[in-house]
Amino acid sequence: MIKKTILVPLFFIILCTAACEDKTALKTIYKNDFLIGNIITPAYMDGDNFDLLKKHFNIVTCENDMKPDRLAPANKGGAYRWTEADRMADKAKENGMQVHGHVLVWHSQSRAWFTAGTAEEAKENMVNHINTVLDHFKGRVVSWDVVNEAMGDSITDPSDWRSSLRTNSGWYRTLGPDFIELAFRTAREADPDIILYYNDYGLNNRNKAAAVRNMVKEINDKYKAEGNSRNLIDGIGMQGHYGLWLNIGDVRNSLELFSGIGVEISITELDVESRQTNSSEWGVNRNSVMPEPQAQAQANLYAALFRLFREYRDKIARVTFWGMDDKNSWKSVGNPCLFDGNMEPKPAFLAVSNPDDY
Ligand code: XIL
Repeated sequence: MIKKTILVPLFFIILCTAACEDKTALKTIYKNDFLIGNIITPAYMDGDNFDLLKKHFNIVTCENDMKPDRLAPANKGGAYRWTEADRMADKAKENGMQVHGHVLVWHSQSRAWFTAGTAEEAKENMVNHINTVLDHFKGRVVSWDVVNEAMGDSITDPSDWRSSLRTNSGWYRTLGPDFIELAFRTAREADPDIILYYNDYGLNNRNKAAAVRNMVKEINDKYKAEGNSRNLIDGIGMQGHYGLWLNIGDVRNSLELFSGIGVEISITELDVESRQTNSSEWGVNRNSVMPEPQAQAQANLYAALFRLFREYRDKIARVTFWGMDDKNSWKSVGNPCLFDGNMEPKPAFLAVSNPDDY
C-alpha cells in the first residue's frame, strides 16, 4: 500500500503540473476589460502556432498582408491581390477570431503611383483604394486603421498639428494636411458599420500625443458641427513599440489625454524590447532564451502596463501584441514578445497573465 505521506505531495505535484501546462487564455483573463489581439502572419497560419494564436487571442491584425503594397496593383489599372489577406481573414473568422484591418493610408509599404501625379489624381487614387478595400472586406473586418503614422517626430508646437505632420509622405506632399480628413470621410461613407482608427507610434512622447489629440479633436468637432451625431475618427491607436527605457507615466499621460476627447483607445502593436535606452543597440539575445535579469525587468514592465491598461478599461477597446514569439517578431533581436524562440512562455507571459502579482 502506498503511504499517505507520499500520496499527498504527489497529488500536489500532479495538480501543479496540470495547472502550469494549462495556461489560462489571455482572452479569458481580460474578457471583462478589452479585446486581446495579436498579428496574423504566414508563420502563424498553421499547426501549433495557429493553435496558440487561437487559444489566447480573440482578434487579429494582418502583420503585412492588408497593407497597400500587398493589396493594390504595382501599376495603376492592374488587379488587386486578395489571396493572402482573404485566407487570413477567413481562417481567423472560422476560428472565432475577429479581424482588425491594417492599413488604408500610410506613407510606407504603399504604392508610388498613388501620389505620383496631380493632387486630383492622388485624391481619386485614395478614394478608389479605400472604396475597393472596404467593399472587399465588408462584414469581415470590424475596425480599420484608416491613417497610419501621419504625425511627425520632432514637434515643438503641438497646438499647431498641421505643421507638426510628417512631411516625408507622398499623401502629405500632394494633398497637404487635408489628406487625413479625406481618408476618414471616404472610409465612413464606404462602410458606416466599421470603427475608424487613427494609428501612430511614439504616442508616449508628450508633444506627439498632444498634436494627435488636437488633430483628432478638431476633425471630430468639425464633423459634429455639420450635424453628425458620432465622431468621424472613432479611435486612436497607440502602437506601443516600447522598450525597458519606457517612462510609464508618459503612457498614462496619453491615455488621459485621449480619454478627454471622447474617442476610444486601443493599444495596437504592443511589444517591449529588452533594450535599456531608446537609442541603444538592439538586444543581443536573438531567438534565444533571455537571461533572467532582463526577462524579469521585461516582465515587470509588461505587468505595469497591464495594470495601467486595466485602470483605463472603460476607454480601451483592444490591446494587440505585435507578434507572439521572439523568433518571428520584427524586432527579434530585442526579444520583445511573451513567448521565446521555442514558443515557450516567458516571465513576460506570466506577468501579463497576472499583473497584480508583480
Ligand atoms: C512592420 C512589420 O512587422 C514588418 O514585418 C515589416 O517588415 C515592416 O512593418 N508600424 C506599423 C506596422 O504600423 O505596420 C509595422 O509592421 C511596424 C510599425
